[in-house]
Amino acid sequence: MNKLFVGTIAAGLLAALGVSAGKPKVDILKLPPPASASGVTYTGNIKGILDNSCVPCHGPEKAKARLRLDSIEAALKGGENGKSILPGKSAESMLVHNVSYLGDEDHFMPPPKNKAKIKQLTPEEIGLIRAWIDQGAK
Ligand code: HEC
Repeated sequence: MNKLFVGTIAAGLLAALGVSAGKPKVDILKLPPPASASGVTYTGNIKGILDNSCVPCHGPEKAKARLRLDSIEAALKGGENGKSILPGKSAESMLVHNVSYLGDEDHFMPPPKNKAKIKQLTPEEIGLIRAWIDQGAK
């Protein structure tokens, strides 16, 4: 084994340990990767996704968990458990965990068996949300 190989393994192990030290329930290595697109914005790329899949329960008519996602201001403000979007940190953002169906299944979003039959977001949609958050959630 050469040094580079050993170093790579060690770094991988440390990264894995670091991940589990924070919030043990979510393995962030399983998150869909952020999209490579640049200039991702709420108005241009994200609002449509949230309007279709989230706003029926997180908008003017219903605001489950006191969270609204129908404006960027409301989305950034968060809900009854505080901020679910941390600008610059998509892998640590609760909203990203929820839509990736990782962690506590009681918080998977949209809830898997909802009456409106709203489907889980695609990995591409989740990747765009991640890119948006990582680029500062503008
Ligand atoms: C069919 C209704 C429904 C839909 C659709 C829905 N949610 Fe939810 N959401 C809920 C309910 C109920 C809760 C409160 C219980 C919970 O946390 O699981 C909640 C809670 C949340 C929370 C936690 C907020 C807090 O502060 O506790 C987040 C984040 C969230 N939803 C994001 C989303 C996103 C993003 C979408 C769209 C991809 C979405 N939800 C779609 C019903 C819904």
